[in-house]
Amino acid sequence: MGEEAPAILKALRARRSIRVFKPEPVPREFITEVLDAARWAPSAHNAQPWRFVVITNDAVKRELAMKMAEAWRHDLSSDGVPEQRIKELTEASVRRFTSAPVLVLVCLTMKDMHSYPDESRRRAEHVMAVQSVAAAIQNMLLAAHALGLGACWFCAPLFCPDVVKNVLRLPSDLEPQALITLGFPAEEPKPPPRKPLSEVVRWNYWEEKEG
Ligand SMILES: Cc1cc2nc3c(=O)[nH]c(=O)nc-3n(C[C@H](O)[C@H](O)[C@H](O)COP(=O)(O)O)c2cc1C
Repeated sequence: MGEEAPAILKALRARRSIRVFKPEPVPREFITEVLDAARWAPSAHNAQPWRFVVITNDAVKRELAMKMAEAWRHDLSSDGVPEQRIKELTEASVRRFTSAPVLVLVCLTMKDMHSYPDESRRRAEHVMAVQSVAAAIQNMLLAAHALGLGACWFCAPLFCPDVVKNVLRLPSDLEPQALITLGFPAEEPKPPPRKPLSEVVRWNYWEEKEG
């Protein structure tokens, strides 16, 4: 085992999603370090189809949080969720995003990915870009943890990409994928349970051979 192995393995088990932050700002070097780690993720064709928008301005955070909450309110309302519950959920969402010292919107671009004439390969190519972006996000979460920062991966932008594109004036090729909150942790959550290896792994064949 390499010298670094115990530290790396420990870090990837100890990382937690942190949703409550101290109000103190995050030094710019820390944010840059997290984004630089993202850049070193593996990506299909090494196309690096990730783009990052760093949001530290309180007014921008609020506008983004409010507009996303408005879109969510609309969805919850058409699902028939009671008004009081909608209010609780959307207000909690706005609080969550506005109280994070830093938000990083992670986007995908197909600009340097391959293009195909058929739908099936186009879909596979898009999935590869999504997988690459997800790998970059995992690097961000681990780098944040290594720096003593907390972070959480939020999927909200996936549900209202046009709202997000409008607020942040994104170029048309950028597809919002996730919002990452960053800051110094103000909670120490217990590890959520993991499925045992025996449930998620089979060696060689999935189906047990009879007899
Ligand atoms: C694709 C993805 C989307 C997620 N979206 C949300 C979210 O919208 N809100 C949230 O509170 N956590 C979100 N999470 C965080 C998960 O809830 C968290 O990773 C999981 O419960 C395991 O906890 P841990 O990260 O502390 O190990 C998301 C994680 C992933 C990978």
